[in-house]
Amino acid sequence: MTGGTRLEGSVRISGSKNGALAIMAGALLAKGKTVLRNVPKIGDIFTMVETLRSLGAQIEMNGDWLSIDATNLTSHEAPYELVKRMRASFCVMGPLLARLGRARVPMPGGCDIGARPIDFHVKGIQTLGAYIETEHGCVYAESLKLRGAQIYLDFPSAGTTQHLMTAACLADGVTVIQNAAAEPEVTDLADYLTAMGAKIEGAGTTTVKIAGVDELRGVDYTIIPDRMEAGTFGIAAAITGGDVTVTHVVPEHLEPFIPKLQDAGARVDVRENTIRFRMLERPIATDVMTMPHPGFPTDMQQPMVALLSLADGTSVVTENVYERRFKYISELQRMGADIKQEGRTAIIKGVSQLTGAPVTATDLRAGAALVVAALAAEGKTEIAGTEHIDRGYENLVEKLCSLGADIYRADSERRGTALCLA
Ligand code: UD1
Repeated sequence: MTGGTRLEGSVRISGSKNGALAIMAGALLAKGKTVLRNVPKIGDIFTMVETLRSLGAQIEMNGDWLSIDATNLTSHEAPYELVKRMRASFCVMGPLLARLGRARVPMPGGCDIGARPIDFHVKGIQTLGAYIETEHGCVYAESLKLRGAQIYLDFPSAGTTQHLMTAACLADGVTVIQNAAAEPEVTDLADYLTAMGAKIEGAGTTTVKIAGVDELRGVDYTIIPDRMEAGTFGIAAAITGGDVTVTHVVPEHLEPFIPKLQDAGARVDVRENTIRFRMLERPIATDVMTMPHPGFPTDMQQPMVALLSLADGTSVVTENVYERRFKYISELQRMGADIKQEGRTAIIKGVSQLTGAPVTATDLRAGAALVVAALAAEGKTEIAGTEHIDRGYENLVEKLCSLGADIYRADSERRGTALCLA
């Protein structure tokens, strides 16, 4: 890794983006004040704050603390300008229906990583008894009272499982979600809803049961740590031959990821709520397949490919969750990576050195892949498209600097702000 700086030290991991987003939407269910702690200050959270405010929720933010009072909701319509930015904002539909009996939510946007339809969400809400109409790019749903039902998901979608759990909490009777997602963020949401008074069983398994209750109360709840941020720092340590300890984490949440990083040659020491990542030699080629939890997380695929691009040997990485999550490969190639894409598979022939280049992040984790690649590359890399990275990583520049990286935020002539790594 000639030219790269070895990362060393410890870094505190922020709260989970995906956990916090689902829980914030769930806060619409309560009459009363919800206090959330360990909320990351990132772009997607600010978008959700604006979305909830547009519906009438009162929100205060202070550091990693956020209070949401959804007692008096004033609108059942989520604004297009906000929902188009982020797919997770579609998940206000279920809670709005449960509270107000109707909801109008535009088709969502978010990272461009392949077709991301909302058919499971819509079908699920319909199965719970809502009348649905799709017109002018919006989904309109109406129901005086949702009723519990059996719902089978064609794919264990994390967002759909979370959304339908919130929709079902105030429904009449019992809802059973089969082939549910088992992600830690689903369990986090279930823990939060249960604290509010919901009756949920089986979160974290493939069958989730929700018995409807009459009302939910505001609570004080701490969001789980962000396993994707922790994993990204693990890869950053490995790719720079470094020694980094991530703190304030739940190591079990990284169980599907750690063995693969070890296969790639990393030494990983797990303690109660810290993980130390070290790399003493050149990474070793290894094959990876992304799968729903507890498989290897699709969100770690991109940074992992960056690491494997420097490995000794050839790796095959298969993306089973999103068909277009390889768009960043052309950017890694600009940095000297030898990667061939065939459909959902990337064949990565490890090179001994990456070189800095001007590159562009096309989505959040593509941005993470380019950052870790740039940490190891010889020379300067300028990464445009930082707004994608800022959607999901809190204080990334500051955190990397504290570990010794030479990285700064600059106004780029090419396109707004860029991250520069020398
Ligand atoms: C969430 C995460 C995202 C992660 C992904 C997979 C949030 C805010 N985002 O996204 O970081 O990459 O899980 O772990 O939590 N699908 C459909 N129809 C639907 C819904 C999903 O076909 O109605 C498909 C998607 O196209 C995809 C697969 O199901 O191929 C999984 O998507 P899903 O788990 O829903 O991802 P998100 O919840 O959007």
